[in-house]
Amino acid sequence: MVTTYNNVLYQTDNGIGMITLNRPKALNALNSGLLKELDSLLDEIAQDDNVKVVIITGSGDKAFVAGADISEMQSMSALAGRTFGKFGQAIFSKLENIPQPVIAAVNGFALGGGCELAMACDIRIASEKAKFGQPEVSLGIVPGFGGTQRLSRLIGKGRAKELLYTADIVDAQEAYRLGLVNIIAPADELISTAKALAEKILSRAQVPVQLCKAAVNTGMDTDLESGIAYEAEVFGLCFATADQKEGMTAFVGKRKPNFTGK
Ligand code: HXC
Repeated sequence: MVTTYNNVLYQTDNGIGMITLNRPKALNALNSGLLKELDSLLDEIAQDDNVKVVIITGSGDKAFVAGADISEMQSMSALAGRTFGKFGQAIFSKLENIPQPVIAAVNGFALGGGCELAMACDIRIASEKAKFGQPEVSLGIVPGFGGTQRLSRLIGKGRAKELLYTADIVDAQEAYRLGLVNIIAPADELISTAKALAEKILSRAQVPVQLCKAAVNTGMDTDLESGIAYEAEVFGLCFATADQKEGMTAFVGKRKPNFTGK
């Protein structure tokens, strides 16, 4: 299925799905229109077995996403704000839980909803020019697309509270030091670095890659015993795949595996 989007560009190439959030004049701010399109696109991707890894980036050279659209939120009532927050939360949870690994290629400002979007991805690669923050308290609100929860889970409660209370914006180096990003790349090598990482993931056995994602996500939302029990189930499941036989036969035969994704 090919869908045309107004605020989001999407292309696939050799197993990689590339999403570009595309409202450069508003620094890719997340308005309802963009969020609805992202929601539909994620449904499309989740059902596309040909796409094995997803990369998300922002258009232009300035911003990944500068937040939720402030002009749209400006006159919202409390109830409308809650509805908007829940809508974005549901989309970010969908993103977090699509079967495929998702890499955020953060090309500039990732503020508010932009930082929250990056945190809903599995792995974050930052351009040297990227900047991160949750500046909501300087606008009279709290983060509403999962930031209070994902930031504290990702970098710890104390550091998260400092960023949340101060609205401080940190550069890529500081974000790396905090554990908010995995890799820093020169700005002109950001996408090639993300693609190289995607290719490496693509070279592995895909059923266990997706089961790793499901196991980490499931386990992080539950107690250790339940997470461990889930792991045992998906570990067992791997032995029903051709790739497990191929991977272990190749190891024993001292050759490279030839995975088929089956
Ligand atoms: C709407 C935005 C926007 C935003 C930037 N723009 N951020 N529009 N919502 N979040 C628009 C500006 O109005 C401007 O439009 C154009 O993009 C360029 O931005 P400038 O401010 O002129 O650029 P610059 O001076 O370089 O400053 C860049 C910036 C700044 C530091 C990123 O734009 C900024 O502080 N933006 C807001 C960041 C923020 O507070 N984000 C959190 C939002 S709250 P015009 O038409 O004038 O050219 C949030 C809550 C999430 O995300 C949860 C919701 C439930």
